[in-house]
Parts: sequence; C-alpha cells; structure tokens
Amino acid sequence: MITINEHYNKLQASYLFSDIAKRVQSYQTNNPDKSIIKLGIGDVTEPLPQACIQAFHQAVDEMADGALFRGYGPEQGYAFLREAIAVNDFQSRGADISADEIFISDGAKCDTGNIQELFSEDTVVAIPDPVYPVYLDTNVMAGRTGAFVSGRYEGIVYLDSVKENNFVPALPTEKVDLIYLCFPNNPTGSTISKQELKQWVDYAREHKALILFDAAYEAFIRDESLPKSIYEIEGARDVAIEFRSFSKNAGFTGTRCAYAVIPKSCMAYTAKGVPEQLHRLWNRRHCTKFNGVSYPVQRAAEAVYSPEGKTQVNTLVAKYMGNAALIRSEMTALGYDCVGGDNSPYIWIDGRSDSWQFFDLLLDKAGVVCTPGAGFGKCGAGYIRLSAFNSRDNVTRAMQRIKKALNG
Ligand code: MLT
Repeated sequence: MITINEHYNKLQASYLFSDIAKRVQSYQTNNPDKSIIKLGIGDVTEPLPQACIQAFHQAVDEMADGALFRGYGPEQGYAFLREAIAVNDFQSRGADISADEIFISDGAKCDTGNIQELFSEDTVVAIPDPVYPVYLDTNVMAGRTGAFVSGRYEGIVYLDSVKENNFVPALPTEKVDLIYLCFPNNPTGSTISKQELKQWVDYAREHKALILFDAAYEAFIRDESLPKSIYEIEGARDVAIEFRSFSKNAGFTGTRCAYAVIPKSCMAYTAKGVPEQLHRLWNRRHCTKFNGVSYPVQRAAEAVYSPEGKTQVNTLVAKYMGNAALIRSEMTALGYDCVGGDNSPYIWIDGRSDSWQFFDLLLDKAGVVCTPGAGFGKCGAGYIRLSAFNSRDNVTRAMQRIKKALNG
C-alpha cells in the first residue's frame, strides 16, 4: 500500500495566494460586469526592461545558430551571471561574496522552500509572524511541526512582528537552530537596521544557528543606511544564507530567475557536532534535482547589470515606489495606521477589523483585491496588505474606489 506523507494533512486547505485567486475568480464569475483591480499578490505588471529584452532576443538567436547553440548549462548557473551578481550586488557594497558562492535558480520561492531539506527533522525553527507562507508550509511538509492549534503550529518558535516592536521581531528567548528573516519584509514592508541585524548574526554565531535571509525586496530600499544584504554585517558569512530574485526589481515573475548565496564558510553540523559546508550539500542537491535556468533567461538577467539595465531597473522600481507612496498617503488620510511603502512595495494597514471581512468589503464595495493579513499568521489578524505592483492608473483608480467605499 502506498502511503502519503501525512504531514501534508496538517497544512491549511490551500496555499494563501491560490485561495485568494479562487475567491476572486468566483466573485468575478458571479459579478461578470464588475471591474477588479488587483493589489493582492505581489506580481509585477510592467514589461521587462529593454536591456533584458534585447539580451533575451539575442540569446534566443544564438540558440537558433548551430555554432552558438547550447544544451545543458552548469546547474549552478553560467559564470557570466554569477560574476555579474558577485561584483554588483555584493562586492560593490563591501560584502565578501564570490561568484562560486552563488547558485542561480528559477525562483526565491523554490529556494526558500527547498533549502530546509538540508536540515534534520528535529531542527528547531524560528519563523516570524506574520510571514511569507512558504517558510512555514515547507517545514510543515517536512514534519518539523506538530498540529495546527489555535492558529499556530506546535513545535515552531514564532517571532512576533507587531506594532510594539516596529514589526522587527526580538531575539528568541529559547535556543533555536534555524531562523527565517525577510527584510524588507513581506508582508509588513518593515526594514531592519544594521545594528538590529548584527544582533541576529551574533545570536546565530553564539548558538551555532543558521539564518535564512530573504532579501527579495532589497531593490526597494531607499534609505542608504539600511543593509541590502546580510553579508554587509561582519561575521554573517559563517551563519547566513541569502536569497535574491529578479522577479520584483526587473519584472521576472513570469520569466523566472533568482539566486541563493551560500558562502563556503557557512556551516551546519552533524549530530556529533562535526561541521559540514552547506555549500557542498546544496551543490549536491542542486546538481541532483535541478538542471539550471535556461540560457536566454540568464542572459536577460545578466543585462540587469549593464549600464542601461541598471537605469531601466531603477526607473521600474521608482514607478512602483510612486504607487506605494500614493497608497500609503491615501490610506493614512483615511485614518488607517500604515507601515511599509517607503522602502518596500508593500503597505501593511491596520484595518481594525477582521482581515478577511476587510478583504470581502474591498472586493465587493471597491472591486479591489488586497491580501488579508491573517493569511500571513496570527499576528496579521486585523491587518491587510496592499501591493504597489500595478500601473499608476490602476492604483489611482483603486484608491479612489477605496476612498468611496470606506467613506460611504
Ligand atoms: C507575495 O505577494 O507575497 C509574493 O508575490 C509571493 C511570491 O513572491 O511568491
């Protein structure tokens, strides 16, 4: 008899964003004439930067040429992209990361979801609340939690991110092994200072723990004093893995390209306490389970680092940040407490009511899709998240409709 991984039965019925998409689809079916503006899932709407498109086209042409055609590429990614990343994203900011510590992949969602395979089942996991649901769900699937009781999984150490701590969690009081951090944060849009991040690095070094640092939204940081990478913090190389993506800065959500950084000095331990290079383990996994991102996509990603690419990406990001400023100022004017939107594309709004009810109200009365905060964890109850990823016209219309719905 084939038996299932029963840990799957502990999961909530469906993945947050699939659940929302289904609700919106069913609403649209029942209200076919209603125009809906989506400020829910953080999916980009602007086309790829011209520099990426040109590089993409050129690489496709190479694939049509017998002399230039390429079959399987290196599983870890082509050297041209890994080198561009190491120089531009890390070395230029004083972070000591080399090209061979970078693993190109098809998404930060996959990387942050898959990385937990490297750790033992009894790993004590600390996860912020609210949080991007992938971190938690993948640990549930792997059997690192007990049952879901009163809105939380037994066995997980939750790091509350609430108004009282400016949505930056405090260090755990108990000893944990694996710590997920995401800054600029999804969903709250909060950021972490170098001093605060240093405390986490020091904690990890003291306890032989590991930090999984999700920096998918670093391009939206405007405040120059904030760290874009955890490797700007001394000592982080030994205790942190970082995840980045081309999805949000360069519009690759549909094109798929991201990367994980695993420094060679970053260790985890056998049960007997023998240090093991995580770089070696991930490389072994990656080569077994992944055959690399396509050549044209990697060439398109490389173009992000060309002079034209950099300018075009900055323009794209600035467009979305203009939307974020508009959303935040309008919601604030309506009397709602907001965070985020200044160094992040997400605005976290205290709706002072049940967040699924607020979701229904905005959908029904304004035709606007948000993400209910409760979907990100218990501490998200009462909040909603609005995303700045849409056209300026749509965001302006959405805010007019929300104003009318909430004032009327
Ligand atoms: C979000 O809306 O939280 C993100 O788009 C999800 C993702 O990047 O997978």
